[in-house]
Amino acid sequence: MTYSMALPLNFLENSLGVADIYKTPARKAHQFLLGTPSEAIAETQPSLGNIIPLPAFVLPVERLSGAESAFTLKAGVHISVVPATAELKNIGQYLAERLNVSTGYEIPVTAAAHAPAKTGIQLALSDADPTLGDEGYLLTITQRRIFLTAYTPAGIFRGIQTLRQMLPPEIESPAGIKNSRKAPWSIPAGTIRDVPRFSWRGVMLDVARHFFSVKDVERLIDLMAYYKMNRFHLHLSDDQGWRLMINSWPQLATYGGSMQVGGAKGGYYTQEDYAHIVEYAQQRYITVIPEIDMPGHTNAALASYPELNCNGAAPPLYSGIDVGFSALCVDKEITYTFVNDVIREIAALTPGSYIHVGGDEVSTLSVSDYSRFIERVQTIVQSHGKQMIGWAEIAQARLSPSSIAQHWKDKFAQLAVQQHAKVIMSPAQKLYMDIKYNDSTQLGLIWAGYIGVKDAYEWEPSTIVNGVTENDILGIEAALWSETIQTMEDIEYMVFPRLPGYAEIGWSQAKDRTWREYEQRLASHGSRLRALGVNFYPSPEVAWK
Ligand code: ACM
Repeated sequence: MTYSMALPLNFLENSLGVADIYKTPARKAHQFLLGTPSEAIAETQPSLGNIIPLPAFVLPVERLSGAESAFTLKAGVHISVVPATAELKNIGQYLAERLNVSTGYEIPVTAAAHAPAKTGIQLALSDADPTLGDEGYLLTITQRRIFLTAYTPAGIFRGIQTLRQMLPPEIESPAGIKNSRKAPWSIPAGTIRDVPRFSWRGVMLDVARHFFSVKDVERLIDLMAYYKMNRFHLHLSDDQGWRLMINSWPQLATYGGSMQVGGAKGGYYTQEDYAHIVEYAQQRYITVIPEIDMPGHTNAALASYPELNCNGAAPPLYSGIDVGFSALCVDKEITYTFVNDVIREIAALTPGSYIHVGGDEVSTLSVSDYSRFIERVQTIVQSHGKQMIGWAEIAQARLSPSSIAQHWKDKFAQLAVQQHAKVIMSPAQKLYMDIKYNDSTQLGLIWAGYIGVKDAYEWEPSTIVNGVTENDILGIEAALWSETIQTMEDIEYMVFPRLPGYAEIGWSQAKDRTWREYEQRLASHGSRLRALGVNFYPSPEVAWK
């Protein structure tokens, strides 16, 4: 049988997982392609095996033909896009830039005719399979051609990340080919058909406790994108700082944003900065979720505008790391004017569907006052055309089914599910990246224990809260709180290497995941992270390569 695009693509849609396919020998794989169920028998190492997150289905071609076969990346290769929309050309350009920086080849992006090009790399939406969904892709590599198809541009973008990881690590460094023993670079032939398990695969960055520049945020977004994550939650306000200019309440940023933890100078994003971050993320098919934490975690706002306090007196700015002490005055009408103005301005800058309103750790309000506040805020968020997200405490209030509770501790998520609201899983003991790896980690906190690299990987989102099951869960989100995090190097050290594991929990099927196998793939990412210049924690749990 010749290996071509005529290959029946739905052969991969049966229930065989990647582990089974790896175990399928050539002869059996032929039968498999022809629709005959094959019995799985143990065989050799996977050849397409260093991809994180683990793809849903991988079929190396040598298992089919017995022949060694690979695509070789050479000068003169083209990237063609079908159809030649501005969006697909941009995605093609994104791939070309990555290849060009490391190889110096000056690979052009061209509009393909309807028929697929005979050689080169083709990115195509045409005739794509709708079962690939919002982010899935089909990547076929032959000796002459790389063919990446998807139902959406986002799917093409996710597939490009897979392609990057199939090339040697030097692909990630400028002029990396000069230092590569493997040049010219090749990619083993085969097919990957890949779709994510969860639609929500997020990272949260706290820019309130310490402020981070737009450049830092861009870098984190790029690193998330490399692991196919798709939600970026910006924790924009807290007791220690307000980090986004609100034109109708400017002192929030100019005064409330002037400090950070420890008392040093803070900072804030202008609305142009924020719009740039949103666009930068959008170009990587990542949705930005802005969070304004309320009614608690509001000292910076209360310090900026005395009228938001029940006693009309502004407290001083706060540079410590206690929680729970502040609250907006929920009985004053001006509070709701304030909330409406803030949410109106942020909603106008945010194309994504969601506004996060915090709602965590309010020790100074009764449950009924708290709930009344959250219910009014929910109405305000909806009046600006958005869905409300809050930390799971919000489920004590009456939630619309369209609102979303983010679990971090306790059992409030059960109340959300009872109200038919969906849940994002961020259990602190697994997904808080500011928690130390172990007792020798210099940065970070320990209130949720320690989270080693294996601990971060080896758990299952649907078994964390009783009664909150797969169908209730949108996905997962890893959070980096920044009480002790001051620089991009600090961010990278706490985020990596836990993030690739989180990406895999969000993307890959639970039945395909084992620490033993994942640890080997993660080890191979050591050289990739080094090529990307990432200051990762070289955990002794992993035999780094
Ligand atoms: C939280 O960690 N206070 C959501």
